[in-house]
Amino acid sequence: MMNIFKKKTIIDSSKIDNNKIPNHIAIIMDGNGRWAKKRKLPRTFGHRAGVEALRDIISTASEIGVKNLTLYAFSTENWNRPKEEVSALMELLVEYLKKEVEELNKNNVKINTIGDIEGMPDYAGEEINNAKELTKGNDGLAVNIALNYGGRNEIIRGIKKLHKDLVENKINVEDLQPNVFSSYLDTANISDPDLLIRTSGEYRLSNFLLWQCAYTEFWFTDKYWPDFTGQDLILAIQDYQNRIRRYGGI
Ligand code: IPE
Ligand code: IPE
Ligand code: MG
Repeated sequence: MMNIFKKKTIIDSSKIDNNKIPNHIAIIMDGNGRWAKKRKLPRTFGHRAGVEALRDIISTASEIGVKNLTLYAFSTENWNRPKEEVSALMELLVEYLKKEVEELNKNNVKINTIGDIEGMPDYAGEEINNAKELTKGNDGLAVNIALNYGGRNEIIRGIKKLHKDLVENKINVEDLQPNVFSSYLDTANISDPDLLIRTSGEYRLSNFLLWQCAYTEFWFTDKYWPDFTGQDLILAIQDYQNRIRRYGGI
């Protein structure tokens, strides 16, 4: 397939084991505000630079054969920010989708979302639906954008859906196993993340994928999100490939 992504990273695939590519990588894209502050710019400039950084990450992930990339873009707690910043983030999202969706589609990328999308502004919801609709037939990299996402909110919404199925006798309570509960979450069709990356030197989950990260490998960097490149993604994957995942065994 011809790759038309405008690329920054030349991939040195000799550094990674192609047989051990993580199936699902989740990223907490943090540090846009501090990136801007360091340059004496308004925070929104950092968000814009953060969106720019995405292109290299998506193309690198796509090229090395990652199947799922889940990106924390807006949390249920991010509504607590000043309303100008919230609007700027929503507008950036819409602008990003409008501008990039065709190129993503040409590169066989499938756009999905997780989170409480009904709680997003209508104009954003529309653009999200367009992107999903356009790319739904693609079987390359799935980019799952977490919007109005909170792990606790997702679990509660899952419990409500489960409760409905229990009341309607679509499921017996005796059959409730962890994998059954997983199917009530927004990530129902996605395997748990193998690798979680957080930028900006923070070492916390901030309500991201609480249920799904039970056995995920974590990787942190001090770099702010706008400075994160495909090469950094390769570094994280290399590191991941040297981990021994025991899942409680020996
Ligand atoms: C991450 O960068 C982007 C979002 C949360 C939307 P921040 O905006 O959190 O940047 P910092 O953490 O304040 O530097
Ligand atoms: C997590 O970053 C949310 C996103 C990256 C979208 P935050 O910046 O909101 O997290 P805290 O407040 O530092 O924990
Ligand atoms: Mg932050």
